[in-house]
Amino acid sequence: MTTLAQAQEKLKKYGQEQVLKYYDELSEDEKQALLDQIGATDMEILESCKHREELAKKGVISPLAAMELPEIEKNRPAFTETGLKAIQAGKVGAVLLAGGMGTRLGSDNPKGMYNVGITRELYIFECLIHNLLDVVRQADTWIHLFVMTSDKNNDATIRFLKEHDYFGYRGEYVHFFKQEMAAATDYNGKIYLEEKGKLSTSPNGNGGWFISLQKNGLLDLVHEQGIEWINVFAVDNVLQRIADPCFVGATIEKNCAVGAKVVKKAAPDEKVGAMCLEDGRPSIVEYYEMTQELMDAKNEKGEPAYNFGVILNYLFYVPELEKMMAGLPLHVVEKKIPCLDENGNPVKPESPNGYKYESLVLDMIHQLPSCLPFEVVREREFAPIKNKTGIDSVESARELLQKNGVTL
Ligand code: UTP
Repeated sequence: MTTLAQAQEKLKKYGQEQVLKYYDELSEDEKQALLDQIGATDMEILESCKHREELAKKGVISPLAAMELPEIEKNRPAFTETGLKAIQAGKVGAVLLAGGMGTRLGSDNPKGMYNVGITRELYIFECLIHNLLDVVRQADTWIHLFVMTSDKNNDATIRFLKEHDYFGYRGEYVHFFKQEMAAATDYNGKIYLEEKGKLSTSPNGNGGWFISLQKNGLLDLVHEQGIEWINVFAVDNVLQRIADPCFVGATIEKNCAVGAKVVKKAAPDEKVGAMCLEDGRPSIVEYYEMTQELMDAKNEKGEPAYNFGVILNYLFYVPELEKMMAGLPLHVVEKKIPCLDENGNPVKPESPNGYKYESLVLDMIHQLPSCLPFEVVREREFAPIKNKTGIDSVESARELLQKNGVTL
């Protein structure tokens, strides 16, 4: 329990006294809840909004060759056999990153609850679980599925999946854990209030998944079960192949600390992060960091040197994750943050009004010694749903699902 005096001292240290503006109006319970939230909030990180540019600085970028489709096809049987063996030995688990807010899609429910069906119900979660069930059948083995949620969507996610009997997945193999929240601020780094007795918070980014897995005691389960490889994937790609035996086998055979599924970029300036080396270690250069020079660079085959974009599907080797000592860099991202206006009324802004503080899973790649970028066919495996219409939308994903024979 945090006392008023302790809270005041902390707020003074970080210049955040404004969050007590309505303190006297609160009930005793609300007062204590606010004080405890102040006590638990990491305010140190908020300073970083003052040097956003420095945070974003990259090292020296050079190309990292991907394993491309012809090589994969040539070795498919061998890779698949290796991957299936690992899955059957219980060495492969999966982590579904479902803690995001999905603000661009604009639904109040967790993104996975979105119905992409047209003549029938077909939920995003259902698509993903069906894809994973393909591998369960092929390997004749259940695969542990860890689902990361956040305070904002945990209860709704669990209720929905239970109500639908996990869409045919075995309940004992589904484990939920919550990621941490971070405070959200205005452009001067001052924490917003979401309610008179509550700081504005948002999930702290998908990079916290491994720490949150550990904090929730699930790393013990990973060890008990002998899981050595964890396939981390995003909630919003409905064509996502999960625990893909060929990908698992290729990453194992190439002795890499992580495998990353990649697609050939549709255009040099496409909005996906490209695989590269940064100061000699695997890394990802974000689309907004791509200079003209990098876009024009060619490899020895005369092809674009940064031509493979990540699709948020990574296979991590657990012992390497455990060796990762350094914290991940922080991303200070401009977003729309629900808050109170000057008169203390709640508002949902139409345009960005401040910063969220996140760490990203892609930054984990740079902390690992080796990475296998593994090419997949875009039309078969990449149908992200970020928006309602246009690029990466419900519309474009529906089209791709139909092309892949899914009845909507
Ligand atoms: P996005 O970057 O698309 O973010 O997440 P988002 O919050 O879902 O959507 P917008 O930007 O508000 O529209 C990519 C993946 O990472 C997960 C998301 O659930 C999605 O699977 N994620 C993101 C988390 O699990 N936690 C986070 O804090 C952020």
